Amino acid sequence: MLHLAGGMSRLGTESAFEVLARAKALEAQGKSIISLSIGQPDFQTPAHIVEAAIKALKDGHHGYTPANGIKEVREAVAVDLHRRHGVEIDPGNVLIVPGGKVTMFFAMLMFGEPGAEIIYPNPGFPIYESAIKFTGATPVPLPLLEENGFAFKADEILALITPRTRLIILNSPANPTGGTASEDEVKKLVAGLARNPHVAIMSDEIYGEMLYDGRRHVSLTRYPEIRDQLILLDGWSKTYAMTGWRMGYSVWPKHLIEHATRLSINCHSCVNAAAQWAGVAALQGPRGEIDKMMVAFDERRRFVVGELNKLPGVSCITPYGAFYAFPNVKKTGLKSKQLEVRLLDEAGVASISGTSFGAHGEGYLRISYANSLDNIAEAMRRMARFLETSRKAAE
Ligand SMILES: Cc1ncc(COP(=O)(O)O)c(C=O)c1O
Repeated sequence: MLHLAGGMSRLGTESAFEVLARAKALEAQGKSIISLSIGQPDFQTPAHIVEAAIKALKDGHHGYTPANGIKEVREAVAVDLHRRHGVEIDPGNVLIVPGGKVTMFFAMLMFGEPGAEIIYPNPGFPIYESAIKFTGATPVPLPLLEENGFAFKADEILALITPRTRLIILNSPANPTGGTASEDEVKKLVAGLARNPHVAIMSDEIYGEMLYDGRRHVSLTRYPEIRDQLILLDGWSKTYAMTGWRMGYSVWPKHLIEHATRLSINCHSCVNAAAQWAGVAALQGPRGEIDKMMVAFDERRRFVVGELNKLPGVSCITPYGAFYAFPNVKKTGLKSKQLEVRLLDEAGVASISGTSFGAHGEGYLRISYANSLDNIAEAMRRMARFLETSRKAAE
């Protein structure tokens, strides 16, 4: 008998990949499936970014790069953070990693161990809880509530801090809810965190350029008083429709960057060189395609929220960030997971149960609107038919 390490049994997963596999299997059987489950833009990476990668390959960028990333991309990240947040970031504190997820895993490995507590949003990106448990640390959920627009309340986070708290994970704009933190709450939180210098903060700002209705992203990098505690998680996947390129970055405090770089050297050596040059082109190039993508997302957001609110037993608050809606489905009479499975099998609509994002996601469904307006409209018709039929059957 092989004897697996204990951590393996504590490792969770991201159900979006399982739902995707099941949807593909149903499609292979000839069923029509509309996917509202996947967390990636349905747009192609802009052409000038693709060209930059091709050029890099033709120019001979085939070897290892420095483990922390090529100087050009780290400098481009620092310039971009200045453009977006008005902050001065030393490119020496920037680490280029293969996707956003790597930063979260590194942060958990750096701070998680038995006896340590890590606070994380619930519902939230499922890998947070999974990675915390893997390290043996105690996951401390921060419930995010519909009545607060699924945004965190500073006092609630601060009340969870104990002497054993090592790390707090924040995510705004948020997956799976589209919730965004207000500047007032961020300021209050920062003041409290500065009084707790034993606590590191990992701020997942991967949707930081995806906001609507004039909302502004409040980056934690703006607050020098927590600079020594803050790990910024960001990357190219969502903003530039580059999920498959595996390009992410983090900014670490001076005293942590060497540890993070050492994790990179132990884990993946460096990120694919051509992808890094594509990353430079993305940050420095024209933004027209990105703006068009956001206009399309905004139109779909308004449409999907309106349609979800017409469905029997469903209500949905307006999300102000990312590309997800998180409708309340408590009055459908079905549990979230049951609804996810039956919508896929019986209505041909792939969505994700709120419980895939933590226990506090019960009663909700994640709907990704990274699909065309026509497909979203058809999915809503299918959901309406399914919910009418299941309501009549229950009467
Ligand atoms: C909140 C959040 N953080 C990080 C990631 C990971 O991004 P990447 O694909 O770059 O690893 C995702 C992807 O869905 C996400 O939703």
